Order: sequence, then C-alpha cells, then structure tokens
Amino acid sequence: MAKYRLKCIECGLTYDDDRVLCSCNGLLDVSYLNPPSDLRSRWVGRRISVWRYFELLPVKSMSNIVSLGEGGTILYRCGRIGEYFGLRELYVKNEGGNPTGSFKDRGMTVGVSKAVEHGASAVICASTGNTSASLAAYAARAGLKCFVILPHGKVALGKLSQAVIYGANIISIKGSFDEALKVVRGMAEDHRLYILNSINPFRLEGQKTTAYEIYDQLGSIPDVVVVPVGNAGNISAIFKGFMELKQYRLTESIPRMVGVQAEGASPIVNAFREGLRHIEPIENPETVATAIRIGNPVNWRRALNAIYSSNGYAVSVSDMEILEAQKLLARLEGIFVEPASAASIAGLRKLLEEKVIDRDEHIVCIATGHGLKDPDVVTRNMNSTIVVESKDASEVVKKLLK
Ligand code: F0G
Repeated sequence: MAKYRLKCIECGLTYDDDRVLCSCNGLLDVSYLNPPSDLRSRWVGRRISVWRYFELLPVKSMSNIVSLGEGGTILYRCGRIGEYFGLRELYVKNEGGNPTGSFKDRGMTVGVSKAVEHGASAVICASTGNTSASLAAYAARAGLKCFVILPHGKVALGKLSQAVIYGANIISIKGSFDEALKVVRGMAEDHRLYILNSINPFRLEGQKTTAYEIYDQLGSIPDVVVVPVGNAGNISAIFKGFMELKQYRLTESIPRMVGVQAEGASPIVNAFREGLRHIEPIENPETVATAIRIGNPVNWRRALNAIYSSNGYAVSVSDMEILEAQKLLARLEGIFVEPASAASIAGLRKLLEEKVIDRDEHIVCIATGHGLKDPDVVTRNMNSTIVVESKDASEVVKKLLK
C-alpha cells in the first residue's frame, strides 16, 4: 500500500491519521503520497479483482483484508442491444456478478477491512437494500456485529432476506432512506459504531476499482461511462478511479461521466439542467427503482464535480422507461439486472436524442445490481405465465400454439 492522506472536500483540512469525517463534518478524500512507479507491472500477474490494485487501496497489510472474492465482474459487449439503440460499441459491466450481487461489495471489502484495522467491534449503515446486504455479509465474514437501518416497506425482498440470513440486526424506520442516513450519522457519533455508508472515504476507494477494471478489460478508456445515481457515491468513486489512472500516467484521457436518476428522485439531474453547483434536496422521492429512491444524496458535491469536470451529463428516466430497459437487457442480451441498474440502459435513448453520445463512441453502462434482488417488480409488472387446466400433452401444445 502507498502512504495516503485524507483531505476534506469542504474545508480543505488534511489528516495523516485515519478518520471517517473531517472535524467540520465534511467528507474526506483519500490521496496517495508515494505510489510505486511500476504499478502496471505489479498488477499484470494478478487476476482482475478489487485487490489486484492493492497499491492504490488504503489497507495497511494484505493480512487485514476481509474478502469474499469481489470485483472481476464481466464487461459484456452488447451487440444486440447496441443495435437496438443504434450504437456500435456498447458494453455493460455487470456488477450483479459480485458476491452479494451488487457493486457495494467492492466498497465493503475495503471498508470492513478498515473497520477491522481500527479494532471496531460493530459496523452500521443506512440502506435502500444493497449496502445492508453487502455490509451484513462482510461483517459476518469478519466476525463483527452489524446494524442496518432501513426505510420501512421500501426494501426489495431479495436484499432484505440477505441482511436477515447474514445475521444483521435490522432496524426499520418509518421514513425515507435520507432520514435513515441522518439517524445513522447521529448513531455513529458513538465511536463503538463504525459507519459504512458512502460518507466513509475507504468504501469509495474500493468502488473506484470499477474504473481500473474497465480500463484493463477494454485495453483503453471508453468515451462515455453511464452510471445510475442514488446517494451519488459510485459515480464519484468511478470518476476518481479514472482520474488516478491519468494522474499516474497509465492513461491519457478520462471518459465523460453520465449520471442517470429516476424522475421521482433526481436532485443531481435538476441541478445539472440548471447549471448549478449545488442541489435542492427532494422531500419525498419516489421510484420503482427503490435502490435509488434518494432525495438528498450525501455525495452530491463530488458527483456534480465528476459530471462537470469530465464534460459529462445527467439525465432522468421514468419508471416505465426503467422497466422497459430492464426487459430489453434481459431479452436481448440475457442479462438480468434490478431496476436501478436498468436506469443506465434507459438513459441511452435520451443521450442519443439529446445528441450527448454518437453511434460510433465506445459506451460503458454500469449495471449495478442483480435482477434477483427484486423479483417482485418483475412478477408484479409482467405476467407472462400461461395457465393450462389439462395435463394432456397434446392439449398443452394446442393451447401454446393456438
Ligand atoms: N444501483 C444500485 C443497485 C444501488 O443499490 C445503488 C445504491 C445505486 C445504484 C446508486 O449508487 O448511491 O452510489 O449513487 N444503493 C444504496 C444502498 C443507496 O443503500 O444500497 P450510489
């Protein structure tokens, strides 16, 4: 590991020792002081995964790592859906292939390893579902107590059952994710509880490896990377990954970062449309994509910076467009993602209409979570079962082919 320093994105104060938040309560960025100059040759012999990039991750010793085998997810070239949208080079990075079925595992392997380094005995998060599933699994792996605070009635069944089976203590609050996060931030003032929401700088370090992997898998930097946005940590982390590749002279360019939000939960898109440098939180966010049902994203400042400084863009998509894109990706490519992930695919049509991308560009969409996380949304919205009374084969064939 290279030595690193933490710097507050609000007041600029720096720290050489580990902490989660600045004394002003601002979020902290990790920057490396002396990364080795032979990064590429060190990485080449290791398989593609989060820990291939150990030298640019903030864990002090490999023996501290808590891992379930995260990262190394497939980057699919999607010719059929590309053709549907009129795009020549469309790729989907399927983060549903992670151990608990979402990109959160990239952050949790680093974040929980740091919790262990700090000697924490309990970890805590607020979540729309995936963060809690992931934290619960990594806490179990590390032998830590885990508390997750969830918005009551708004967490998809697959995610909830993961948190239950991994043994997390589940607290359901009658409120939104934004309110749950506020509660967790207050609870984490008790230093016995180590917070692992995306205010934790070490978690984002794990998530930035998505950028490193895309570069390694494509052998080049794509023109555009499209990311679904909720609390806005992931788009910020991926942008940081690309910026570091450039900073350490592994690449020369960075992609344009595009954020996609659901229409009913789109504070970042609203700010972008108005050309603003701050967001107006949305009081009662609502969308079928419960993972990104967030009105007051904590990483808004980083996300707007990623979008503006990469010459990127932000678009919102309706629930119907999200469900349509989910179906398209499954039926044209055999990739089943949850609704929030499908937002990145749904955004493509708008990006073409608004002439933000053109058909010859290399586009990567991040599919953030597995479709089995939220089976209800599929069965509720698409009923394609044919019920047959008869058990006679020729009757069944007659019914099917009529
Ligand atoms: N896609 C999925 C499947 C998610 O679970 C999330 C966030 C996002 C996209 C958005 O990522 O917050 O970094 O902008 N889920 C969080 C959770 C909020 O609690 O599981 P983001």
